[in-house]
Amino acid sequence: MKLKLAIALALAALSAHAAEPWMDKSLSADQRAELALKAMTQEEKLKYVLGHFGSDFGNKTKKHPAALPFSAGYIEGVPRLGLPALFETDAGLGVATQASKTPRERTSLPSGLATTATWDRELAYKGGAMIGSEARASGFNVMLAGGVNLLREPRNGRNFEYAGEDPLLAGTMVAQQVKGIQSNHVIATMKHYAVNDQETGRFVLDARLDDASNRSSDLLAFQLLLEQADPGSVMCSYNRLNGVYACENDYLLNQVLKKDWGFKGYVMTDWGATHSTVEAANAGLDQQSGWEFDKSQYFGGALEEAVTNGHVSQARLDNMVFRVLRSMFDKGVVDHPVKEGGTIDYAAHNLVSRTDAEEGMVLLKNAGNVLPLKAGAKKIVIIGAHADVGVLAGGGSSLVYPIGGNAAPGIAPTSWPGPVVYHPSSPLKAIQARAPGAKVVYNDGSDPAASARAAADADVVLVFAQQWVGEALDAVSLALPGNQDALIGAVAKANPKTVVVLETSGPVLMPWVDQTAGILQAWYSGTSGGEAIARVLFGEVNPSGHLPATFPASESQLPRPKLDGDPKNEAVRFTVNYHEGAAVGYKWFDLKGLKPLFPFGHGLSYTKFEYSGLAASQKDGKLTVNFKITNTGAVKGKDVPQLYVAPLNAKWEAPKRLAGWDKVELAPGESKQLSVTVDPRLLGTYDSASKTWRIAKGGYKVLLAHDAADSKATSVTVQLLQRTLNVAGK
Ligand code: GLC
Repeated sequence: MKLKLAIALALAALSAHAAEPWMDKSLSADQRAELALKAMTQEEKLKYVLGHFGSDFGNKTKKHPAALPFSAGYIEGVPRLGLPALFETDAGLGVATQASKTPRERTSLPSGLATTATWDRELAYKGGAMIGSEARASGFNVMLAGGVNLLREPRNGRNFEYAGEDPLLAGTMVAQQVKGIQSNHVIATMKHYAVNDQETGRFVLDARLDDASNRSSDLLAFQLLLEQADPGSVMCSYNRLNGVYACENDYLLNQVLKKDWGFKGYVMTDWGATHSTVEAANAGLDQQSGWEFDKSQYFGGALEEAVTNGHVSQARLDNMVFRVLRSMFDKGVVDHPVKEGGTIDYAAHNLVSRTDAEEGMVLLKNAGNVLPLKAGAKKIVIIGAHADVGVLAGGGSSLVYPIGGNAAPGIAPTSWPGPVVYHPSSPLKAIQARAPGAKVVYNDGSDPAASARAAADADVVLVFAQQWVGEALDAVSLALPGNQDALIGAVAKANPKTVVVLETSGPVLMPWVDQTAGILQAWYSGTSGGEAIARVLFGEVNPSGHLPATFPASESQLPRPKLDGDPKNEAVRFTVNYHEGAAVGYKWFDLKGLKPLFPFGHGLSYTKFEYSGLAASQKDGKLTVNFKITNTGAVKGKDVPQLYVAPLNAKWEAPKRLAGWDKVELAPGESKQLSVTVDPRLLGTYDSASKTWRIAKGGYKVLLAHDAADSKATSVTVQLLQRTLNVAGK
């Protein structure tokens, strides 16, 4: 009865406004927003530009009474006009919960890097659609997901939330996730705009990156995402860019995002990233988020006064509200009111997460075909990283609390940016289930010598290695924490049939790489990670992940061998000079002639793929590349043929760029003809003065490769004519 009454009341409330002109669904989002805006009082307008934290803020303020408990944010609506409130949740891996003893338990995708490592646009979409549906079922109509900061800094504590080092791959893959989320009539949020590429000193650091380099790297990822997915909102970031805070940065917000790229949605701040009223409003900020984190309600009474005094025009305030309303109409938030308590098919959602996780796992090394595990193994020893109970998750606002609770509670830090959570999907149990005839034992790895003794007579040893990082901190180094390197070394010495399963945020160093037979990068593998890992190890699914980030051989190879800033003193402003410009990741390694531990795009399979018939053609200035791929091995598998372009004479930021890819599944002996078109912006250089992309006349090599360091890559040379494209690449 209660539910029926609630539905009846909701429908009544809706129908009470059905006759309002802005409720006419035949009108465009712009028209509806304009009509609603006209009907609003100044007080009502101001509601939509001020965000409240969705939890108690220490002992400073209690959460807004209407906010969903332990949620990220809440923006009051205008019930008088039938315009809903905005209920905000984090984030890119699923429905997160702020610190709470009773967190929402929901399905977690694997890390953003894992999804990107699938190079599978459809999987990224499905993952977004899944988490967006859980957001809606949980009562949220804004999901703060769409993180696409480039992996400039392999030690960045939030790399697991993002999509790697290449703007084409990152922008394209996160765009699919955003489209998936918004397919649920939930507003997604492209973030953290922009160049918020490390966590140390994130609130104060000044990122230095010139316009042309930025447009060809970090900003290109955002631009591609915007074009392909049309996110309803953008979150400006904590850091300064070229001396000005991102959330009051006219260049970022008014010039690039709104004017050059034509962004029609609204810009919200990160939580604690608002620093002014007049400067911020006039620089293009539309909504202060979580005002409790700031020094003041800059977009509360202060904004009303600024408009009254003319420091911020009424037109600017109206445009702020128009943008919020437009996204609400455009993404279906008004026409599809959310309510808590929707049903969630967790079994189906677990499968979405597991498929994503297993397709994102990267087989880095497989000497002597130690993998897949042989069915006849008599003794399998599993060591370390709580692999007996679960799989690791990253820390911070994106943390999705697992159904069934933390499998390994009590690991420090137990409070922000902790807790350290292991999803209760046990690799040990999943492996035991697949090796009924074997003795499968677990050793916690705390004593390398004891682990080595336990491993000595095993048919195969699986050492699980973890690297916990999270928001608000960076990895102190790329080395595995604790004594894991010593553990792996000791075990591999005792038994050469040692396979390392990595549960890391991103790139790590591997001093034991030559002593181990197999290495599987499993990332943070989400709700069904244990199952996914076992399925890959036993060959139930053939690994097809490819690295979305370069794994350095040492930190001395990096543009910044030592991370900038001091984690012990984050209040002092400092500069991060991104002198590498757009030469991020593999581009830097190419430029400097460095050999990484594992290159961008690398990933092995249990079968083999060969490429042939590479040809490139041009029509109306569009470069299309055709080629054939064949599975020359004995088992079905998926591969990611990659296309890179390298100018023969033109001067780029680096010798080559990723220009396209495809992912395809082939049975043994099967071939497929593939065709990829190249975004012309990837063939040119950006000119800041004219805001154009310029393709230089001349020869360009098109390489068809297995990864960014593929010395056997086949190539063809194409002659391109001089072309000038506008900022949108048209
Ligand atoms: C955090 C994060 C941001 C998140 C927001 C709300 O500090 O930087 O990604 O969406 O605050 O939790």
